[in-house]
Amino acid sequence: MDHFSYVDGELRAENVSLNELAAEFGTPFFCYSAATLTRHYQVFTDALSGVDADIYYAMKANSNLGVLATLGNLGAGMDIVSGGELVRAQAAGISPSKIVFSGVGKSVDELRAALDADVHQINLESYEELHALSAIASEMGKTAHVAIRVNPNVDAKTHAKITTGLSENKFGIAWEQAEAIFTEANGLPGIDVVGVAVHIGSQLTDIEPYRAAYTKVRGLVEKLRGLGLNIRAVDLGGGLGIPYDAETPPSPAEYGAMVQDVMAGIDCRLGFEPGRMIVGNAGILVSRVIYVKSGIDRKFLILDAAMNDLIRPALYEAHHTIVPVTEPTTDAMAPIDIVGPVCETGDTFARQRMMPEVKAGDLVAFRSAGAYAAVMASTYNARDLLPEILVNDSDYALVSERVTIHDILKREHIPVWLSGQGQEKNVG
Ligand code: LLP
Repeated sequence: MDHFSYVDGELRAENVSLNELAAEFGTPFFCYSAATLTRHYQVFTDALSGVDADIYYAMKANSNLGVLATLGNLGAGMDIVSGGELVRAQAAGISPSKIVFSGVGKSVDELRAALDADVHQINLESYEELHALSAIASEMGKTAHVAIRVNPNVDAKTHAKITTGLSENKFGIAWEQAEAIFTEANGLPGIDVVGVAVHIGSQLTDIEPYRAAYTKVRGLVEKLRGLGLNIRAVDLGGGLGIPYDAETPPSPAEYGAMVQDVMAGIDCRLGFEPGRMIVGNAGILVSRVIYVKSGIDRKFLILDAAMNDLIRPALYEAHHTIVPVTEPTTDAMAPIDIVGPVCETGDTFARQRMMPEVKAGDLVAFRSAGAYAAVMASTYNARDLLPEILVNDSDYALVSERVTIHDILKREHIPVWLSGQGQEKNVG
């Protein structure tokens, strides 16, 4: 459930008019709902109420400070994947004691920053990274609390580009090497092995791959304890899918029940890293129709939003429901291709989508644009990075300003040998 619905013929974000936001901030823009974020976070925590659970929101899904602070206020920790995300999380007021650092290629500087901040846990993904961390921690006189991510070789049955738990994927240590690497880790200086981590992919719509992976992980925990390791934590990752279209992902309650079933009596703290499930349907992208172009055999809805603002359709063939901001007054629908202005055929959001009639100048909203949307934006075609607005009942705040071509040009310079001025020239 979300808080974007039609009221008096207009799509609203909670009690805020999208037409008014468009007039104030210009289009396109992202709009997030605090009530929806809160609801999703609570549904997830309720589903795990019978469990010793720690929730680390996977901030890669949406790392806007307003979103992070909203979730932080509800008690969420953060799952980070870069030194930049560590800085963001701290800027949002999240205590490092609630931060888990994941990621397949953490650099020496990033590992050092994590140890310096005393993050709660570092999830390691390779033998090589384990040894690098041991050396850095020893040199700094610190002890790193680590989980080692295993690759259970389970097919998550999701899009190939967001599957992570197959042996051909770059993530985690190979299942066959787990016992040997855990045992070696246990004796290394600067390393305190606290747990096992797993994450098999994103936008999972079937619960069985989870059950298969978690059952394997449980077996591994028991084996490692038999070998004398003091395993106190299991990090079960994220990945729960959301309904973008006709998908029927497992509900958080079903997921929670499965976890309780598989992990019953394991005597570990269980960590969870939900991203999309929390923020996906808590955001929309609002765009204005530039033209309705009539071709010979099809029509094109040309929007002012493009693939640089929302890359998911181009990258993953992802579906985003697109609705007019003005509530249609009839049920009449017709097929139309919905595209952006970028000079690529890939800049197509939907082909032959059934849509109510919309005209040039109308606003439309992309649903489910809270996760992996603004964070994946680029300035391709010298376009802006979009403003982000967080709504809270009838209140709203600009939580990220529009970045324009003029802001971007300030960082670019014509080399001295071309400027003829004897110094670098800033053209911004
Ligand atoms: N934990 C780890 C270690 C992850 O790699 C991810 C996501 C998550 C948690 C959160 O997964 P979620 O609950 O959000 O599914 N850009 C893609 C999704 C990439 C997911 C990357 N890892 C998309 O737009 O579909």
